[in-house]
Formats: sequence, structure tokens, C-alpha cells
Amino acid sequence: MTDTSVKAGQRPSLSFFEDMHPPAADFRADILAGLSKPQKALPPKYYYDEEGSRLFDAITEQPEYYVTGTELELLRAIGPQIRALAGRGAVVLEPGAGSSVKIRTLLDALDGPAAYVGMDISGEHVRSACEALAADFPALEIGALCHDFTQSLDVDALPLSPGARSGKRIVFFPGSTIGNFELIDALALLKTLRGWLREGDALLIGADMRKAGSTLEAAYDDEAGITAAFNLNLIARINQELGGNIDSGSLQYRAFWNPYRSRVEMYLVAVKDMRFTVGGQPFVLRKDETIHMENSHKFTIDTFQDLAAKAGLQARKAWVSQGEAFSMHWLEPSGEAC
Ligand code: TRP
Repeated sequence: MTDTSVKAGQRPSLSFFEDMHPPAADFRADILAGLSKPQKALPPKYYYDEEGSRLFDAITEQPEYYVTGTELELLRAIGPQIRALAGRGAVVLEPGAGSSVKIRTLLDALDGPAAYVGMDISGEHVRSACEALAADFPALEIGALCHDFTQSLDVDALPLSPGARSGKRIVFFPGSTIGNFELIDALALLKTLRGWLREGDALLIGADMRKAGSTLEAAYDDEAGITAAFNLNLIARINQELGGNIDSGSLQYRAFWNPYRSRVEMYLVAVKDMRFTVGGQPFVLRKDETIHMENSHKFTIDTFQDLAAKAGLQARKAWVSQGEAFSMHWLEPSGEAC
């Protein structure tokens, strides 16, 4: 784990940068496999190229997309309670370190946090995000990890200073990102995150709540068409990088609230019969046939706490935003996961 670590001094603003060599993704194989399924599907992790990340930031600013603003407001409101639960000298670990306003809000709320460790599958991304944070929090020990958060992590082996080792660990997972996983994968991820915690440590996690289908469908299909563009950007990326010829003008973006599975399902729908090739392979999409793009599960306090309990995480505290739109949960490891 230490072979690629960059010593402090070379990049003075970070205490450490470690490349844990997350398994390389195979864009071509994953896209071809997805398009070959009976229900065509594209893996959402490929949304976030440069243009995709720009479009995602724009989604969070759309008036219908209440998620980001509501979570931030809630986080600000509960800051004093989080401060009391975390105690002095906490160590914050953040898998998927993109939410810079949120992490700043959390760090501002805490009582003399000892360290922050940001993690992301993109080493460049996490390094620059953590360096920007270091400029604003000069007293904080900050490390960056190039790491895939679905993989295990030996937190004890991180090169934290002796002072930081004794602080309470808080794993911060905002954005209701947990809701983008199938429930079985969400459970597996919660178990993985629990594995980073010792007794008394905590997972502080955001979970978006069930609400009227019309509100949810508007949030995931904004008037300005940014979420649609975000989805179609993946088609553009496939055409460019895999030599595809998918006519994106024949695809229409749709978001459906599925109350039975308590999730918003995002699709691209063919407005007419389509034939195209990707990476030299031919595909047919019939009129009205769909490509499944992503899900966003919505929870009640009970359904979320039940899921957490199955992962061996006990609810110590839950907070709900005004209008019961969004929830934050303070979960602590309990006994054994089942
Ligand atoms: N996790 C957030 C959510 O489900 C953000 C998000 C992920 C998202 N993928 C998305 C938002 C696609 C809109 C479209 O809301």
C-alpha cells in the first residue's frame, strides 16, 4: 500500500496521497454487456466524465432538484448536535469526495477535528479536491486516497499521525448516493463501510425520503432538460470513445416513480425503431424500448434503519428536514451484521 505514497514535502498541503490501485474499469466491455441485456442498461458510473461532472453540478442547482439544497440546509441545522455526538478531535473519512460544500459544512461544525481523509476512484479528482480543502483548513491533517469505496479498506493502516488515531472516526456519505445502488448492493456497501468503524465510531449518511411521485419525477426530469442532457451525455461518450453511431436525437429521457420498489427509475426511450453499432457490434432498439440508466431509491426512517440494521449498523439518531424531504442518520456499529 505504501509503494506509491507521496511523502509530505513534495505536495506540502496534503499529509499523504495513496494510490490503492482500484480495479481498472473496462468501459467497452461494460457498455457492450449492458446493451446486450434483454432490458438494456448502462452502468451509471460512466456518467462522470468532464462534461458529465459539469452537468451533474448543474443538476444540483435546478429548482426542481431539491436534494442537494435540502441536505445542506439540514446539515447546517444539525451541526451543533453532530458536534456533540462526534466530540473533540474526530477523524472524518469521506468515500467519493466530491461534495465539497457539504464536507466544509461538516468540518466547520465539528470541534477541532483531527484529520480528514478523502477517497475517490479518480486519483486526480480526489487529490485536487483535498488540496483545495487543505487551503481552507490549514490546521487539519488531510490525506487523499485513490480507492474504490466498494472495496475493503484497512483504516488502521492509513498513515495518520498518532494524535489522529485516537479520535472518533466518522464516515461521511452524503447525497443519498446509497439510494443509487440496488438494495442488495446498498446492503453490501453499508457492510463495507461498517468494516471501517470501531466501537463508538459512526457513519453519518444522507438518505432521500419517499414523497409524492409528481415531486420526484419533476426532480429527476427538470424543466431545463439538464438531467436529460446528463443522461444523453453518456450516449455521446459511447459514440465518441467506442466508435458508436447511436442517434441520440431518437432517444427521449424519462424518469418514472416506481412506488412498489420505492425508487425513481431513469430511462432513455427510443422514439422509433433504431439500429446502431457500438465497438463494431450491431444493436437494435425497437420503438418504445428503453435503456435503463439509473435508480434513486427513496426511504422512510424505518425502511432506512431496517436496511442499516441488516448491515450491523444501529441507529443512534435520525434527523429529518422540513417537509420530511430528506434524512440524515447517525449509525453506529452494533453486534454482528446478518
Ligand atoms: N444520489 C443523488 C440522487 O439520486 C444524485 C444522483 C445520482 C442523480 N445520479 C443521478 C441525480 C442522476 C439526478 C440524475 O438524487
